[in-house]
Amino acid sequence: MTDHTLLTDNFQRPIEYLRLSVTDRCDLRCAYCMPEDFKGYEEPENWLTFDEIERLIGAFARLGVKRLRLTGGEPLLRRDLTGLAGRLSALPGIEDLSLSTNATHLDKHAQALRDNGISRINVSLDSLQRERIEKITGRDCLHKILAGLMAGKEAGLAPIKINMVALQGVNDDEIDSMVAFCIEHGFILRFIEAMPVGSTGREAQFLDLQPVKQRLQERFGLLEGVIPGGGPARYLKSADGKFSVGFITPISQHFCETCNRVRLAVDGTLYTCLGQDEKFEFRPLLRGGISDQGLEDAIRLAISLKPERHEFREEPRKIIRFMSSTGG
Ligand code: 5AD
Ligand code: SF4
Repeated sequence: MTDHTLLTDNFQRPIEYLRLSVTDRCDLRCAYCMPEDFKGYEEPENWLTFDEIERLIGAFARLGVKRLRLTGGEPLLRRDLTGLAGRLSALPGIEDLSLSTNATHLDKHAQALRDNGISRINVSLDSLQRERIEKITGRDCLHKILAGLMAGKEAGLAPIKINMVALQGVNDDEIDSMVAFCIEHGFILRFIEAMPVGSTGREAQFLDLQPVKQRLQERFGLLEGVIPGGGPARYLKSADGKFSVGFITPISQHFCETCNRVRLAVDGTLYTCLGQDEKFEFRPLLRGGISDQGLEDAIRLAISLKPERHEFREEPRKIIRFMSSTGG
């Protein structure tokens, strides 16, 4: 008999959000994420196929996962991502399908993604200066990112959130210009603290966002606010409600007690925490002919492995996975 209680981990947190990494490849090399000479990509035969993904996500959805985000690496590098989006958005129970992208290929795909059920996107953008973007990402790609963003806006993807990893001495002088840019275009801005994931993350120029938050709050007269369905970001809003800026502060103020998510990597490994090693492999089950009931039981078991919290502060040397392989 199907057990109809929804997914809850061992710390009474309901798990209703899954981030699905559709590829660990990326066309950029953001310094805090992937090393320039990275060679450890997953072999294609180990990538879950679209059929396998659809079956597994369908099982998660039956157990109460309602929100799904396609991530990577860079998800638009996976062939026919639009087709996958169409299949996943049609699954019973999936209410919200979104995409995280670096936007370098978004201009070609924005409309088709919208038509296939992607309602909103998050775009990584750490600077508005061409040379700086080249320095941070290793590629001269600001024009492509901006073209992608504008195509996304044109296609009606909304809201568009801009994720800026704030780095001391690298882009912290652009905080105000990024605020102005996002006000101008109606984008929701989020500043993110660099996390010590992988050697790259550990070497990043961490910037504590608490003083930044205080300064912006005073300068623009912003008020504390919430965005419905919002994850870990803490938001400030303008008095007229038109502009929101979020702060994702895993280091200075962690938010593990309200964590509602797990991450599925391209090879079918479910990572239950960005900052811990607990994981569960679904590929052998999917390829070994498991029943639907067996799959649901396995999902419950996997969720029970979710640890209480990350230990980025206490044990910054712990995690060796790069963000691009866990799924950002
Ligand atoms: N710390 C914080 N965020 C990171 N990302 C990648 N590496 C890190 C890190 N070390 C995030 C970026 C990007 C998304 C794909 O992953 O915000 O927008
Ligand atoms: Fe690619 Fe995103 Fe990692 Fe940058 S942060 S290298 S865009 S996956």
